Amino acid sequence: MTTAARAPRQSPPKGRPRTPSPAPNPLRAGLRLERVPEPCTIVIFGGTGDLSHRRILPALYNLRHAGLLPSETTVLAFARREYDDAAYRAEMEQAVETYSRVPVEPALWQDFAPAIRYQAGDFADPASYQALADRLEAIDAERGTRGNRLFYLATQPSAYTQIVAGLGKAGLARPDRGSWARVIIEKPFGRDLESAIALNREVTRVFDEEQVYRIDHYLGKETVRNLMVFRFGNGIFEPIWNRRYVDHVQVTVAEDLGVEGRGQFYEEAGASRDILQNHLLTLLALVAMEPPIAFEAQAVRDEKLRVLRAIDPQWSEARIRRDVVRGQYGAGWVGGTAVPAYRDEPEVAPTSTTETFVALKLEVQNWRWAEVPFYLRTGKRLPKRATEISVQFKRPPLMLFREAASEPEPNLLALRIQPDEGIMLRFAAKVPELGLDVRSVNMDFTYGSSFATEAPEAYETLLLDAMLGDASLFTRADEVEAAWGIVTPLDETWASWDHAGHDEDLERYEAGTWGPQAADRLLERDGRRWRRL
Ligand code: BG6
Repeated sequence: MTTAARAPRQSPPKGRPRTPSPAPNPLRAGLRLERVPEPCTIVIFGGTGDLSHRRILPALYNLRHAGLLPSETTVLAFARREYDDAAYRAEMEQAVETYSRVPVEPALWQDFAPAIRYQAGDFADPASYQALADRLEAIDAERGTRGNRLFYLATQPSAYTQIVAGLGKAGLARPDRGSWARVIIEKPFGRDLESAIALNREVTRVFDEEQVYRIDHYLGKETVRNLMVFRFGNGIFEPIWNRRYVDHVQVTVAEDLGVEGRGQFYEEAGASRDILQNHLLTLLALVAMEPPIAFEAQAVRDEKLRVLRAIDPQWSEARIRRDVVRGQYGAGWVGGTAVPAYRDEPEVAPTSTTETFVALKLEVQNWRWAEVPFYLRTGKRLPKRATEISVQFKRPPLMLFREAASEPEPNLLALRIQPDEGIMLRFAAKVPELGLDVRSVNMDFTYGSSFATEAPEAYETLLLDAMLGDASLFTRADEVEAAWGIVTPLDETWASWDHAGHDEDLERYEAGTWGPQAADRLLERDGRRWRRL
């Protein structure tokens, strides 16, 4: 995340319709009980920031509500501001009321609130870490948290190394026998390959890699997790999941939001660092990976890494001009509201060349995927929020139904990550009439209607996994570096063009449209088009 005060904004749960208690659902009958983690103290660095308000505390409350958080578990916010426990608790109560997925039950809150504590400290001051160590011991004695610690770095990324070093010096990274210490690190993890390598080096100087949990919250989304179940829990899809049957794959992460008061952060990041380096490449890796030998952290991450390594990171300028489109939104209308141009957003330079849109074509150079294009795109201020992976299959080898008035579209499998979470398969069907007309029809599965229950938020899943010591949904050092290896040459080339005053490739698009026309041309050149979402 970016700044404690302005962490990257995820879909605001605020105001979302809360699902009433669903009627018992036969599809959920007999599900195995969830695992409950050992008690621990969760130390949130940057506990007064946006991420803690919107995501972390609501997620912890929801876990408690679901009976998955042992009552001893304690939350200790650590930040610069002077608060006492009561003041911090009161602020978090409001935050949880505003952002929690499940409505707050007063009795449960009364039970949960004493577990929330605050410790003022300075990230640069060794004495603050000593005070933290003393406080943690006191909490262990008082609440039975058994010396287990989950450190959550939700601060400005620039503070990460300082905090990790402080924890190391205070002996907090090496727990007593029988206890554990883990550290969750928010994105962005570095801003290019070099800084990511440096950060990994600093972090692993203090913690072992097994103790480090790097978050890409897309991996915690239910639909993203289901992608692996869909691919590897079914027998019929894997045989056709390759270059023989697949024509191409599209991955879209579209947002209708702008930069939402995070201009300063976004000026430094742009769409390539904010979404492409992590969320988009994560989705690509999950779609393209080989079946892991086991469903456990190392095996899954090994396969994801292989995909990233199979993407050619040699970006010549000519290849960038040909296969990558960057864009920036101008003023326009989104959802019936007039919105300003990116350059007119607060904290954004009037001559900014930061991209708010990227579309690109990649190839995964292995036996399964060689020559199958993967088209990725992401943008802010597009017409709607929609994340989708679509696998477009090849046309049948022979068109038997030439007489049909229209040629059906080739088969398509759309995995809707959000919203309207579900899976759709498009196939050809005969129109019921005397002639022989063929049309494309859709077979649709939606989570909402099939399971009649609301899925947990990504942060609930990820926090629970970190407490359980399951790192499958977190990113390993080598994966982060491989992803930066793909994105950094692009960012550097753009920066050099900008520096030389040659930013002609930066396309403008009107807010509320699907991005620059150059993104359409990227596919049209190959005889394809973006799926309309
Ligand atoms: C964050 C980015 O990682 O993801 C934000 O920093 C973006 O810019 C957000 O808005 C999107 O997340 P979600 O869960 O709303 O798709």
